[in-house]
Amino acid sequence: MAKERTLSIIKPDATQRNITGKIIDRLENAGLRVVAQKRLKLTKEQAEGFYAVHKERPFFNDLVSFMTSGPVVVQVLEGDDAVAKNREVMGATNPADAAPGTIRADFAESIEANSVHGSDAPETAEQEIAFFFKDDEIVG
Ligand code: TYD
Repeated sequence: MAKERTLSIIKPDATQRNITGKIIDRLENAGLRVVAQKRLKLTKEQAEGFYAVHKERPFFNDLVSFMTSGPVVVQVLEGDDAVAKNREVMGATNPADAAPGTIRADFAESIEANSVHGSDAPETAEQEIAFFFKDDEIVG
């Protein structure tokens, strides 16, 4: 298995409830290593840009409002098969469908306030990492 990197975001519902440590614990226990991390409040432009692929979807405006409603923690995670592994630990988008023991099953409040983001493919991961981090901000 190749060592890979993926982008993770701990979303405003989770920072608001002060459970970032609990979420990071899940990621680390799955063998993912945090090699870059920052806490920030996304601007509307950043949230719209990050989720541009969804801009025609009915939930887009609500998603942008939610993602700018409080601080987020953006991270680069590194590990074997990091993209797929992170998606596995996160669980399905809708917490009602998420497998038991996943982050979303245990922490998400709704399909919108679902606690975490994770890149869905290696190519997307590269773009999403570059959206938030310069090369020298990632220390493996
Ligand atoms: P998506 O990329 O489909 O899911 P994932 O985060 O699992 O990769 O959707 C991006 C985000 O958009 C999702 O995490 C929450 C929000 N969303 C909604 O609010 N309503 C919806 O019906 C969907 C599909 C997504």
